[in-house]
Amino acid sequence: MTARRRVRPRRVTLDACAKLNLGLAVGPRRADGYHDLITVFQSVSLADTLTATRTTRGFALTVRHEDVALRGGDARRDRGRVPAGRDNLVLRAARLVHERFALPGGVRFTLVKRIPTQAGMGGGSADAAAALDAVIRLHGLRVSRAERMAMALELGSDVPFACLGGTALGQGRGEGLKSLRLAAPFRAVVAMPVWRISTADAFRRHHLNGNSLTPWEGHRRFAASLGRRRVSAPALLRRGNRFEELLGQHRRDFDSLCARLHAAGARHPRMTGSGSAVFAIVPSGGSVREIVDRFVGEEPLYEVRSTAKGLRLRSSGRHDDVHG
Ligand code: C5P
Repeated sequence: MTARRRVRPRRVTLDACAKLNLGLAVGPRRADGYHDLITVFQSVSLADTLTATRTTRGFALTVRHEDVALRGGDARRDRGRVPAGRDNLVLRAARLVHERFALPGGVRFTLVKRIPTQAGMGGGSADAAAALDAVIRLHGLRVSRAERMAMALELGSDVPFACLGGTALGQGRGEGLKSLRLAAPFRAVVAMPVWRISTADAFRRHHLNGNSLTPWEGHRRFAASLGRRRVSAPALLRRGNRFEELLGQHRRDFDSLCARLHAAGARHPRMTGSGSAVFAIVPSGGSVREIVDRFVGEEPLYEVRSTAKGLRLRSSGRHDDVHG
């Protein structure tokens, strides 16, 4: 069973990083209703901040939106899009750890939300990973990697990667993870269209368009070859994102956005996850400011850089409890 560490902080604050998918291939639907996928996940610097405080009972969450777009942002747009109450992944994660380890008391969370929602940037998954980690720290639990990853997967397909962070090949539902090394860190500009896409709908469309599974074997061979050498972000991006082929009525907007990012000086535009955010690489030595100034369009723009971690502990305070 799980051992306790000596120190149990009363409060912890963590940064929870967004992710980008450096290419994404989708395979056939499995017996459990999920689809196998092959992708390379990359943690990036844009992060939410979660503070968790131990309380005597109950679970509560307050969300504050902070607009960090370089231009065109409006955090109010996202305000209604973070599920409140019991469905929020932060509260589900906290309840899961409490139930799994029969923990006493409750937790009060405050979340500063900066990652755009329903973007394909894994914001909700990052928050869930942070909540898991926070509760584990608040109770000084020693939890094996396998136990943590199993809880993460119960919360969502992208949550295991959010716990791991860095650069990783993702297979299976996304939980089959293998850490990779980037040939070079990169900066990217992310553009956020007003339209949003439901992940479940995107997978459903893929299933209904099943005739395009031919390239899947090629992607599998490619995935098997990864890990020996460092990976280059542009080379991964050139492999495409299956969900771009399934955009339907939004395809024209997507093509226009890619063309405008390219015209502004950013390279290899690609959708992340099932969208709708589109990102493009800032050429080395290039200026984000110049790209932002040259960009023609209303979409909010964000600057991100690749990071080696998904979760960062900011502070861990008021250690009020010490076990023998
Ligand atoms: O796991 P998560 O809750 O993030 O997935 C949301 C939905 O996306 C699932 O209910 C499923 O319909 C779809 N999905 C899938 N295959 C995956 C991941 C997600 O079909 N690998």
